[in-house]
Amino acid sequence: MKAIAWTKYGSAEVLKVIETSKPVPKTGEVLVKIQSSTVTAGDVRLRACRVPIGFWLPTRLVFGLFKPRKTIPGMEFSGVIEAIGNDVKLFAIGDEVYGTAGMHFGAYAEYMCISEKEAFVKKPNGATSEEAVAAIFGGLTAIHFLKDKAAIKKGQSILINGASGAVGSASIQVAKYLGAKITGVCSTANIDLVKSLGAESVIDYTKNNINEMTTRQNTETYDFILDTVGNLSLSSCKNILKTEGKLISINAGLFTNLLSLFNKNLICGVAGESKQNLEFLKKLIETGNMKPVIDRIYALDEIVEAHRYVDLGHKKGNVVVSIFTLIRRKGVAV
Ligand SMILES: NC(=O)c1ccc[n+]([C@@H]2O[C@H](COP(=O)([O-])OP(=O)(O)OC[C@H]3O[C@@H](n4cnc5c(N)ncnc54)[C@H](OP(=O)(O)O)[C@@H]3O)[C@@H](O)[C@H]2O)c1
Repeated sequence: MKAIAWTKYGSAEVLKVIETSKPVPKTGEVLVKIQSSTVTAGDVRLRACRVPIGFWLPTRLVFGLFKPRKTIPGMEFSGVIEAIGNDVKLFAIGDEVYGTAGMHFGAYAEYMCISEKEAFVKKPNGATSEEAVAAIFGGLTAIHFLKDKAAIKKGQSILINGASGAVGSASIQVAKYLGAKITGVCSTANIDLVKSLGAESVIDYTKNNINEMTTRQNTETYDFILDTVGNLSLSSCKNILKTEGKLISINAGLFTNLLSLFNKNLICGVAGESKQNLEFLKKLIETGNMKPVIDRIYALDEIVEAHRYVDLGHKKGNVVVSIFTLIRRKGVAV
């Protein structure tokens, strides 16, 4: 089978197309014929080991100190179960599934074996493989932070910084579903997209410096600020947060993460991956409450180009890798 392999960390060019043997499912595992995967901000950060301050060593200890521990990268997948090992109870051959292999990796390949206990479930009805896979990274992050951690209630207000990225575009839709009033921060080119997803108002960061705004008195205040960019801090946000307001900082360094353990106005950490939240996301998609934004679709052979594009840090929503497609489609907004 065709797959992508990496033997070292570094620029996008460390990713190589290889031929390797098709895996065979062990007890409790299924063999997934992968249709689509993604290139996320997390994938490129890990590849280049460009992580928030203080996380370099912990990341390397988890993923491989001198070189990646797992040969085939890629986390999210959407595909069809082609074979099952002994004692598989949750899935059957022919099931269409979507989810994430997480730290096991292996999704940049035509086939992958994965334990049935991992974070994957049946694919949302009516969604293409590309739409389903595109929803996962931002969707699981938004559900974890906005529903599970912040427990946003109807009528509360939220400012989303980085509103046009994978996490931002999904967070607007999850916050809207929870009944929040949303302000998105994005660049001029993404204003229409951010509004179309459900933001009532938009701040164009190329015209209004968000950090300058936070220094003004008597300005609008929010119940929550979700910072996906990493240029806001709790102290810099005090003028634009309500008294009990919380900053959700998903791109923070080690010190801020430690601080959040002792400060109830600060939410940090890493989004969990669970079957439960994938089921929640599936329902949002099936009921039309989550429309994954797809910026570009690349073929597996174009993985270097796909990573280079995501490295720029300005994608709109998500970048998908279509495993069996050789044609790249640009500007597909679903
Ligand atoms: N803690 C966790 O569990 C967790 C989970 C998921 C992601 N993350 C982290 O969250 C970050 C965002 O992820 P993502 O997938 O959403 O990234 P992404 O898809 O690459 O999006 C980044 C977005 O930021 C916008 N942006 C860049 N500079 C900006 C600025 N100064 N002000 C406002 N917006 C700006 C870009 O829009 P323009 O093109 O308009 O500039 C782009 O849409 C990453 O660092 C990722 O590692 C953390």
